[in-house]
Order: sequence, then C-alpha cells, then structure tokens
Amino acid sequence: MSEIRFDGRVAIVTGAGGGLGRTYALDLARRGARVVVNDKGGAADGTGAGPRMADSVVKEIGQAGGIAVASYDSVSTPQGGAAIVKTAVDAFGRVDVVINNAGILRDKTFAKLEPENLDAVLDVHLKGAFFVSQPAFRLMKEQGYGRFLFTASNAGIFGNFGQTNYGAAKMGLVGLSNVLALEGAKHGITSNVLAPMARTRLTESLLGAAAATLEPECVTPLVAYLVSEECHLSHEIFSAGGGRFARIFVGLTPGWTKAAGAKVDAEEVRDHIEQIRDPRGYIVPGSIADEMKAALEAFRGQQRAG
Ligand code: NAI
Repeated sequence: MSEIRFDGRVAIVTGAGGGLGRTYALDLARRGARVVVNDKGGAADGTGAGPRMADSVVKEIGQAGGIAVASYDSVSTPQGGAAIVKTAVDAFGRVDVVINNAGILRDKTFAKLEPENLDAVLDVHLKGAFFVSQPAFRLMKEQGYGRFLFTASNAGIFGNFGQTNYGAAKMGLVGLSNVLALEGAKHGITSNVLAPMARTRLTESLLGAAAATLEPECVTPLVAYLVSEECHLSHEIFSAGGGRFARIFVGLTPGWTKAAGAKVDAEEVRDHIEQIRDPRGYIVPGSIADEMKAALEAFRGQQRAG
C-alpha cells in the first residue's frame, strides 16, 4: 500500500492547538507537510487568548521530527485571515492545504439567544473560514493546486437542540464549500466538508456513553486523505467519528410536475405532497445547473405525457 505523503506541501490548520485540529496538524507533519499551527488560544466559548496551545503543538511536531510554525491570529477578522496565510508564505513560501477547523460554542435556545452570541459564533466559524480561505484561494489559483476542508457539524446539517447560531454557521460552510468547489475546479482546487464526531473539550460533557470510542484520532485519516494530492473528490460532505466514515449529501427528489409553467393551486400541492417528498429516484446535484437540467427533463416528460 503506497503511503499518502505531503512532501513539498504546506498546510494551514486553524484551531490546531488542541482537540481535532491538533491531530490533523500532527498527522500532516508526520506525512511530510510543513504546517502552520494556528490557534488563538483561550476558552471553548472564544474568550481569552494566548500562545500556549499553538506553541505546544508546534513543539510536539518538532519533537516528532516534523516542521511547523505557530500562528496566534484569530481567524475571525480579514486581517487575522490574511496574517495566517502570510505566516505560511513567509515561513514556507506557499499554501497547498487549508483546513478550516477553528471553532467555539455559545449554545442557547433560540428564544434566549442574544445577538452577541450569534455574532461570536458566525465570526469564528463562518466568516473565519472566509477570511482564511480567500487569501489562500488567490495563491492556489496562481499555482494551479489547492485543497480546502471546511468543518461543519451534524448539529447544523441534521439539527440539534439549542444550537441555532452554531447550526446556521456550520450549514453556511456547506454553501461556501460548494461554491468554492465550482470556482476552484478549473484551477486544480478541491473543496470538501467534514462533519466530525469526537471527544474534545467542546463535546466531552455531551457525548455520554459514546465518549470512550470517539477519540479525535479516529477522524484524522479521512481528513488526511481528503486534503491529499491523491484525492480529487470535491463538492462533497463526509461524516467521521469513532472509526466510522460516511458520506452526507443533499439530494433532490424527482418531485411532481404538472406542466412547464403551469398554474398550480395550493390544493393540488396538498394532493401531491407525498409524491413531491418521495425520495425514490433522487439525484445529488453537483451544481445549480443539475437542478435546472432535472426541471427541464421533468417539463419535457410532462409534454410527452400530455
Ligand atoms: P476544540 O475546542 O478542541 O478546538 C477548537 C480550537 O479552535 C481550539 O483550540 C480554539 O482555541 C481554536 N479557536 C477558537 N477560536 C479561534 C479563533 N478565532 N481563531 C483561531 N483559533 C480559534 O474543539 P474541537 O471539537 O476539536 O473542534 C474542532 C472543530 O470541529 C470545530 O469547528 C467544531 O465546531 C467542529 N466540530 C466538532 C465536533 C466534535 O464532536 N468534537 C462535532 C462537530 C463539529
């Protein structure tokens, strides 16, 4: 079995001072990547800051014979994102891989959520991923190669009580990645999304009996593969945790079509709602064009039937 290697490649891992990000940084460095270990430091709710977390992972990588530099900038501002990418360029001359992993939690039920707890979560997860990825994307376009991974969450993709801010930010990353995948395709740039499950400081109080099996290291192999040269998948979403790996996708049902441009009343929708919802024969559109194609085919099908 040939080894997946990152020799000559430069990777940025945000939020790599602990939890899942630390395992990604260690593994990519072990496989030959030069790594920017970005972490602002501080608490799980995003308060506080400090160099200790990023420094300790850089030290760990060095002790294992790898190459890494620390970055303490917050992802949550355009200046922070630019500084993180500049750290990679100044230290190693390029950027090949960006793993957007930095994250915080400010859980509250929707009725109680204050604007500051919405802003803080959107700033780190959603805007932070924009701010780091955009300067990196520009460099990747020039060099004709790049790998993006965005960290979503099953809390957003599937829903979880008390996490409207987090769920919205995480599902927003799916949209960001899908568009980036299309814009990057002709430049050798791929973009995918991960929904991990792991025991970290963000989740240790929530996982219950499953906690013992959910080592962060169980997620790492999928991450290493997705950001490798060998992987050409793009525009996809994966779930990983505890040794199980799976694909998540957004599907489109064949639905119900009366006729192209037909006036339909609410009662007809009611009477066809089970057909509209029926998942049999679904497709997984690769872009907006695929849905348009499916709609045009449905119109043509109805014309033939009529
Ligand atoms: P973690 O708290 O150990 O890791 C997040 C890291 O991001 C921390 O080291 C933190 O200091 C850093 N960080 C926070 N704000 C930052 C900022 N503004 N700039 C730079 N760094 C910042 O937690 P974990 O679980 O490893 O989380 C990693 C990612 O995975 C997060 O995006 C999280 O939302 C996501 N996730 C984790 C799940 C799990 O089961 N652990 C489930 C679903 C998603």
